[in-house]
Amino acid sequence: MKIETGDVAVITGGASGIGLGLARAVIARGGRVVISDVRAEAAERTAAELRDAGAEAIAIAADVADSDSVCNLAERALEAFGTVHLVCNNAGLVSPAAPMWEQTPATWDRMISVKIGGVINGVRAFAPILIAQGRGHILNTASSGGLAPLPLRTPYTGSMHAVVGLTETLDLELKTVNELLGATVLCPGLVDTPLGQNSASLGAIQLPAGMSGNIASLGAGALSPLEVAEAALAAIAAGRVHVAPGTGVLDRARARVQGLISDLEAAGE
Ligand SMILES: NC(=O)c1ccc[n+]([C@@H]2O[C@H](COP(=O)([O-])OP(=O)(O)OC[C@H]3O[C@@H](n4cnc5c(N)ncnc54)[C@H](O)[C@@H]3O)[C@@H](O)[C@H]2O)c1
Repeated sequence: MKIETGDVAVITGGASGIGLGLARAVIARGGRVVISDVRAEAAERTAAELRDAGAEAIAIAADVADSDSVCNLAERALEAFGTVHLVCNNAGLVSPAAPMWEQTPATWDRMISVKIGGVINGVRAFAPILIAQGRGHILNTASSGGLAPLPLRTPYTGSMHAVVGLTETLDLELKTVNELLGATVLCPGLVDTPLGQNSASLGAIQLPAGMSGNIASLGAGALSPLEVAEAALAAIAAGRVHVAPGTGVLDRARARVQGLISDLEAAGE
């Protein structure tokens, strides 16, 4: 689906980082945006900045882990714009660094309810709207950690692998209804966002003293949120189900898939 002038995008986790990049990329194509975030003030501030720059943007606070909150988001987005074309289930957190046997039940609950539950709630609230319109697309943000192993982050990789798998199936289900519907999963490598800082302020991790929480501080080669957003919208326009921008992501995904196939072939001998 190519974003057309006047199309409406609803973006969860839109107050910051990749979500804000997606908003800017949609606006650059003449689209209108709903900035949704659990951090209500940050969402208001971001939408106001976009409006000051000439865009049609509103803020609607929602907690993606709460299905009622996401249904309210869908109702209010329709009240405001009368239509929704692109739903970006993007909100997310990072989990603490520890081996799987040391990850706490609270961390697992949180990652599953925000990352997997957030996508489920978004699809349940918005897919019927897109289906009724006959045109629309769902973009789910996962991670390169959903395409390949990432030691010390099992709650993160486990939930991201789920988002990759459910998006592949969701795309087939939507296309069965109508070829003008579809779903794409975004699996970036490192992106220069305040993910660590926001995850800490929401209580999901504790930042070690002196650490900024900015992803770019982890190493060179982080993409900008706008580069990632442009790659995502290009993939949606081309009808692709997967998009994985970032240094080394293709090699890591290829190694996983080749390892999987060679294990299956060996087992089949
Ligand atoms: N930054 C990276 O390197 C990177 C790489 C791959 C994937 N991702 C994923 O991209 C997505 C966006 O992250 P980002 O890097 O832009 O970080 P970010 O912190 O800048 O943006 C995430 C936003 O989600 C919001 N959020 C968190 N919990 C929420 C909830 N329950 N309901 C609604 N909003 C909530 C936060 O307030 C924040 O504004 C996340 O799912 C993240 O896991 C990030």
